Amino acid sequence: MPDTLHLGLDHFDVQIRSALAQALGLEKDSLKLERPRDEKMGEFAFPCFRFAKEKKTNPAELAKKLAGELSVEFVAPSAAGPFLNFRVEPAALVKRVASDVSKPNYGCGNLEGKVVVEYSSPNIAKPMHVGHLRTTVIGAALSRLANRAGHEVVRINHLGDWGSQFGKLVAAWNRWGSEEKLSVEPIDHLLELYVRYHKEEENDESLPAAAKVAFQELESGENNKTRVIWKRFTEYSLREFNHIFDRLGSTFDFVRGESWYEDQLDPLIDWLESTGVLEESDGATIVDLKDHGIKTPCLVKTAHGTTLYATRDLAAAKSRWEEFQFERALYVVGAEQNLHFQQFTTVLKKAGCEWASRIEHISFGLIRLQEGKLSTREGRILSLTEVLDRAVELAAEIIEEKNPELDHKEAVSEQVGVGAIIFHDLKHQRNKDVVFNWGEVLSFEGDTGPYLQYSHARCCAILRKADRPAPSIDSIDLGLLSDSPELFVALGRYPQALREAWEKREPMILAQHLLKIASAGNAFYHEKRVLGESEELESARLCAIDLLRKTLGDGLGILGVPTPEEM
Ligand code: ARG
Repeated sequence: MPDTLHLGLDHFDVQIRSALAQALGLEKDSLKLERPRDEKMGEFAFPCFRFAKEKKTNPAELAKKLAGELSVEFVAPSAAGPFLNFRVEPAALVKRVASDVSKPNYGCGNLEGKVVVEYSSPNIAKPMHVGHLRTTVIGAALSRLANRAGHEVVRINHLGDWGSQFGKLVAAWNRWGSEEKLSVEPIDHLLELYVRYHKEEENDESLPAAAKVAFQELESGENNKTRVIWKRFTEYSLREFNHIFDRLGSTFDFVRGESWYEDQLDPLIDWLESTGVLEESDGATIVDLKDHGIKTPCLVKTAHGTTLYATRDLAAAKSRWEEFQFERALYVVGAEQNLHFQQFTTVLKKAGCEWASRIEHISFGLIRLQEGKLSTREGRILSLTEVLDRAVELAAEIIEEKNPELDHKEAVSEQVGVGAIIFHDLKHQRNKDVVFNWGEVLSFEGDTGPYLQYSHARCCAILRKADRPAPSIDSIDLGLLSDSPELFVALGRYPQALREAWEKREPMILAQHLLKIASAGNAFYHEKRVLGESEELESARLCAIDLLRKTLGDGLGILGVPTPEEM
């Protein structure tokens, strides 16, 4: 374990491993604790199989011996067959966790180095669709997790704004473009032009010719008419995208389209040439990757001399390495581009870039919309805006029914609707396909965003009702909370959830742990009266509620789920 994210239950984890390491004559960091299968057996478990072999004894024997020998403050070891279980004394556990949770650095790691996270990266002149939802939401969550782990994070949005398709779009604009439509519904109009181009291209030879000329004009680098209109397309697209990024709470340090690397493409090809990896194949320039187990070569220049998507990714990777000297570079892009990522990263390795092994393709599965009238409107693919709007509409209906008196209903509906979409995406393992079912996404009960938001708002409501500042940890008798170790176990495992979510690049681990915290929290305030107890007990329980509120709010913030105080 490289890094204890200050500290919670990890405090005991470290203590136990130190004692085990000493008893076994091993390094503490080579040992890993698990959780007992049954929570009643304690908070930690240590399987003895591997070590028994080394000590030439059997696991049960070793577990028994260690249980008798080990001494860890506030921790009781017990042998259960081949396992050694550890139970932390509830009073000590509550005290430790409560005091750590209340500190501002709870859940903060000390990892170093820059992590570049590229995500979202939609294509200009087209609406963002639900597929872009996943990269945007997963990328933003991973950026925050990396940051929490201690890394400096560089967020990049690699807009798809270059390639021969923009020659086609400009050709279509020159024929049929309407300034009026462009100013009112820019993306719709550009999409319409693009579709029309492809329809008419077959019967009209002058169109592809015009498209070719337009792309040459674009590639010439001059500030000609074509470039001016292409720039406007980019601006209009960004305006729409930014609106979606705002709603989803995603931010970027750099919005750099593929075009940004344009003048680095020739130097890139020269450099590749100098490393000896380039070959010619039917007039095109390729890198053969068979010797690296990849059948399809990476095409870096067509027979017509134009560069490609992969060429721009090679240039972008190299430029990012030179600029940021990253520890890791993550690319949050769907699994349909697996081959592309294997190809260009392998080209870099073949060309001798040691740093190429720091690149990670963070792939993810598809979103499949449940069939039915909510999935598509007018029989076409849903745009991301439509999905968000629909979620907000549904959230508004639910709020109207459950809490018609609520202030700021519109703003809260936006938070709940968008939060529901984000959480639904992140609660799944990223490589699995996500099936979208409106009823399930927005339910206020079950494993949903609204359920977590509601748990958080519930804490806020209790604290509001108490009508006094939440008592600080030093002002209460922590012993009064010893009857609720379950809540503190859940809160105390928050740093571990953060760490594992980052290590595995899997926000789901955090999402699932927040559900556990919420359920422990719900049990707490259902079983135990908070308000109207004796002054001392009320203070202690209010403090617990405040720590619960804080941790839920923090975790939801990392996932990008908004946390209204009332809903
Ligand atoms: N613009 C592409 C798309 O929308 C995604 C770009 C992914 N990033 C990259 N470096 N290739 O499909």
